[in-house]
Amino acid sequence: MDPIAYVNGSFVPLSDAKVSVLDRGFLFADGIYEVAAVLDGKLIDNASHLSRLERSVGEIKLKLPETVERIQEIQKELVARNKLANGLVYLQVTRGADKGRDFPFPASDVKPTLVMFTSEKDIVNAASARTGINVITVPDIRWERRDIKSVALLAQVLAKQAAAEAGAGEAWMIQDGQVTEGGSSSAFILTQDDVIVTRHNSNAILPGCTRKAVVTLAAERQLRIEERPFTIAEALAAKEAFITSASAFVQPVVAIDGKKVADGKPGPIATRLREIYIGFAKATAV
Ligand code: PDD
Repeated sequence: MDPIAYVNGSFVPLSDAKVSVLDRGFLFADGIYEVAAVLDGKLIDNASHLSRLERSVGEIKLKLPETVERIQEIQKELVARNKLANGLVYLQVTRGADKGRDFPFPASDVKPTLVMFTSEKDIVNAASARTGINVITVPDIRWERRDIKSVALLAQVLAKQAAAEAGAGEAWMIQDGQVTEGGSSSAFILTQDDVIVTRHNSNAILPGCTRKAVVTLAAERQLRIEERPFTIAEALAAKEAFITSASAFVQPVVAIDGKKVADGKPGPIATRLREIYIGFAKATAV
């Protein structure tokens, strides 16, 4: 069955879902995206994703063509129309298509483009959650506003292609000797003193929705957390390492650049935080 996509007010078969070659998302990567997980047909942590969407569009002076309440209704209708039980809803909003290619913003009558589609993914039962993933390191060559969830993802495409070629599940990006984040995930370690360390939010990283929930859930359980940068040497000396994202939840990292983290097996804290997060996700799904 051809999946159903949403394009500017219409639900259409994905193979017919089209935008103009003049769309500024296509020409300039002048747009913002969000990815929310779906479990048992319900959206996970979606309020957090929509609030980050509002912040991202605000930072690039783009006005959403629909209210976030309406956007959530569309997300839900798309999930229902696709009979999606487990997977992801992708959402992208761009500054629309003008009459030609002109860098400054178009006139105010040019409507932003809003596109959504879904994909199936069994995040809860992913094999990589049991085995853990290997990561490689790459230089972080991105721009200075990584807090904005922009569709300009070429640096991440290259980082994740290098990871795929190396047989790794993620690339950790390095700046000034410290890990910023993964190509599409937030990065964590657990030190030998049982402190969970993840980089503090700033313009240097995307403020991960899963990161935020995991930090809160861990703090509620009296686990110690430090939000600060860490180095690869620290990660290799750590008890555990893991990543978080909407598309992976919590996944253990068992090796970095071919070197084992601890005994090279998923650690108990990452495994526990994964279970806690899945419990939170199911309990708060909409
Ligand atoms: N990526 N850091 C980066 C650079 C990301 O692209 C993502 C998400 C995250 C984790 O954020 P969250 O927990 O809100 O998903 C961190 C999405 C899943 C993607 O591009 O597919």
